[in-house]
Amino acid sequence: MSDSELRRQLVEIGASLFDRGFSVGSAGNLSVRTADGFLMTPTNSSLGRLSVDELAELDHRWRHVGGPRPSKEVVMHRAVYETRPEAQAVVHLHSTYVTAVSCLAEDGPTIPALTPYFVMRVGREVPTVPYYRPGSAEVDAELRAAAAQGPAVILANHGSIVAGETLESASNAAEELEVSAQLAFLLRDRQVRPLTEDQIQELLD
Ligand code: 13P
Repeated sequence: MSDSELRRQLVEIGASLFDRGFSVGSAGNLSVRTADGFLMTPTNSSLGRLSVDELAELDHRWRHVGGPRPSKEVVMHRAVYETRPEAQAVVHLHSTYVTAVSCLAEDGPTIPALTPYFVMRVGREVPTVPYYRPGSAEVDAELRAAAAQGPAVILANHGSIVAGETLESASNAAEELEVSAQLAFLLRDRQVRPLTEDQIQELLD
């Protein structure tokens, strides 16, 4: 995709996520790899009101080379790209149910593999990294270790970060993660029938 197509797609996907409540206020940020480096949403911008001419431009070494100041989560985005070679785009959201899961004190798998699309888009399990304040560079090593396990990571008391081969696939996976977290809450007090090991393996294969 050309630079201008990527800009248009980033704005469209940001608006779509915002309009459907996956992001509120100025929470969340998006980035996509370009021929010259990366395009990223500006810090303190709303995903619902991005503009193609007002996106942060970073070079291959993540130096800010044009446009407004990038999101404060550059360290997190960079960690995910550098850990996952297939990553061409990264979506970070504070969507409600994933963030609710991220605040649970319980240990163990946080979102069960109940549906095929969870397994297909997100994987069998989603690792969680401990809490760091937004924008902290200290999350780097733990996030790299978690991102090595799969395309989606839960950030304790914060939200999610998800990689994809395109902006669309990263956004689809982030939405699937959010809906799977909703299902986990809806079914919290019910006897559930998770996918079997064979069913999960068939989807992963
Ligand atoms: P930015 O406005 O700097 O992108 O930060 C928003 C956010 O989601 C922090 O986690």
